[in-house]
Amino acid sequence: MKLQFLLTFFVFHLAAAASMKPQSAPVIKTQDGIGLRYNQTGPKNGQQLLFVPGWRQAAVEWRKQVEYFSQVGFRVTTFDMRGHGDSDKPDFGYRVSRFAADLNDVLTQLDLRDVTIIGHSMGSSLSWAWWDQYPDSHRRVAKFVFVDQSAVIVKNPHWTDAQAAEVSAIFGPGPIYDIAADLANQLEPLVRSMFTPSVSEADFEWVLDQNKKMSDANAAALFVDHSFRDWRDVLPRITVPALVLSGELSVFPHAGIAWIATQIPGAKSYTFTAAEKGSHFVFWENPERFNEVVYDFVKR
Ligand SMILES: *[C@@H]1O[C@H](CO)[C@@H](O)[C@H](O)[C@H]1NC(C)=O
Repeated sequence: MKLQFLLTFFVFHLAAAASMKPQSAPVIKTQDGIGLRYNQTGPKNGQQLLFVPGWRQAAVEWRKQVEYFSQVGFRVTTFDMRGHGDSDKPDFGYRVSRFAADLNDVLTQLDLRDVTIIGHSMGSSLSWAWWDQYPDSHRRVAKFVFVDQSAVIVKNPHWTDAQAAEVSAIFGPGPIYDIAADLANQLEPLVRSMFTPSVSEADFEWVLDQNKKMSDANAAALFVDHSFRDWRDVLPRITVPALVLSGELSVFPHAGIAWIATQIPGAKSYTFTAAEKGSHFVFWENPERFNEVVYDFVKR
């Protein structure tokens, strides 16, 4: 009798706990068997947008864009990259080429068409890698928005300072390995440098928590691979309209980001000013202006 009571009690609480769990996002499986969580919001027949996060960032950080664009009629897709957010976290595949393959799996399995891909930071690099590696999928993409990512991060020691500045190559090779080896301590100042000083502590802590969903080891492997890629030869081969966004307060000096638009045929660039809170995370710090600029480009 007593046992039966205990069992009933236990089952009841288990059921209550299960029903309280937030609905988890649906999953696609990559070609190497990794589960990636994604969300689709807004009318099914709406114009397609796909937001790709930056290194170590979670899809949920796009929520101010998801809310706005789905409300004005777009079909908005977000996904957590491998090792990031709520997606599977295998101990392999932390290189941009693999992430571009994952991006292609998202595009093809969700059958996205006429989609505008908005890539933040490393999300832009994934878009360049994907364009380079998957010509058969080019027809799916209508436009690109590249948000604050230089075409080369590492300054070749054989370059002059002017050569490095032209493309905003902001790190020497050594510092990349130094940051990667000490991510437990480097993460917080790194994330801090991506915002303006006016970011609230609550927002900063929340973004830091999203970053910590990825292990330091996986993040370090991806950071090194991402940093040493050079996308300059891909840019002139992009054949869809592109908008390149930079910020006066970004860690990447804006002239070297705007340079990208001079390399892509017909591309436009826009620099968010200091008054517009033009940081690396401008989409979070000034969503009204960011959404307006992206809207105008996508609707044009
Ligand atoms: C999907 O939406 C839920 C609820 O807002 C959120 O918790 C989750 O992080 C989102 N996942 C992705 C991949 O966008």
